[in-house]
Amino acid sequence: MSQNSPSTAEGAAATAAATAQAAVEERLTGNVLRSFQDCANPRLKQLMESLVTHLHAFIRDVRLTEKEWDAAIAFLTAAGHITDDKRQEFILLSDVLGASMQTINVNNAAYKDATEATVFGPFFVDDAPEIPRGGDIAGGAAGEPCWIEGTVRDTDGNPVSGARIEVWEADEDGFYDVQYTDGRVAGRAHLFSDTDGNYNFWGLTPTPYPIPHDGPVGKMLEATGRSPMRASHLHFMVTAPGLRTLVTHIFVTGDKLLKYDTVFGVKESLIKDFVPQPAGTPTPDGRELGNDVWARARFDIVLAPATA
Ligand code: BEZ
Ligand code: FE
Repeated sequence: MSQNSPSTAEGAAATAAATAQAAVEERLTGNVLRSFQDCANPRLKQLMESLVTHLHAFIRDVRLTEKEWDAAIAFLTAAGHITDDKRQEFILLSDVLGASMQTINVNNAAYKDATEATVFGPFFVDDAPEIPRGGDIAGGAAGEPCWIEGTVRDTDGNPVSGARIEVWEADEDGFYDVQYTDGRVAGRAHLFSDTDGNYNFWGLTPTPYPIPHDGPVGKMLEATGRSPMRASHLHFMVTAPGLRTLVTHIFVTGDKLLKYDTVFGVKESLIKDFVPQPAGTPTPDGRELGNDVWARARFDIVLAPATA
């Protein structure tokens, strides 16, 4: 035995101390779990017990310091302070940790060829104007015009007539209307599919933009070397009686951010070709765009049964 190695007695003492320490930690976890034993709501009991089990395991696994726990509390406090009826920092946090996407995955199991769901995001508003088929959702928002068309069908291939299609997107500067302070309504609308399930409208060719990153979530992204950018996308929410509500986006083929979307929302099946149309190409509805280039994309939507 070298001069510096611990004696057998020292080693045994260290092992005993570690065992005692683990027992203290495990006893606490057990006590907290037992505190929920009389919870009358079985689902709430399950949620709380699992949360405590995982939280305690995390604290023990990383040997969390008190300073780190204080920093975590300060982070959550700051997230609370910046949150109001327009800014929801906790949704952003859930999004950048992949918690939103994982909840979506758990709740939207693949069903036949039903269109995949993705993250909702914080910028939906439920009083967007109705437009006729072929109408324009831009409402003055800046960007390249884009014709979007497709069908809404069920998983047996039947057209879904009268499906309500909500669409919303950022302008070419990367902002949703609700991020401006002038009360504008732009880049959002809803329309309905026709009796054959067809829909079409004018929107804007999606461009990449950062999620709001001037708050604690932005600081966390910066501290961890992550970008706040989202891949270019156009949001959809499609509802029809008896069918599962679909919340999704379409993404743009070739977008360099597809692999790096900061909220992990990209799914291969949702990447669509936005085909550039040279200036002067006749538009599908005869709209005059003069010398403007425009694009067109197709998104055929398949809704699962509500019970799937
Ligand atoms: C969005 O796509 O609008 C969005 C999604 C998650 C966080 C922030 C923005
Ligand atoms: Fe978005």
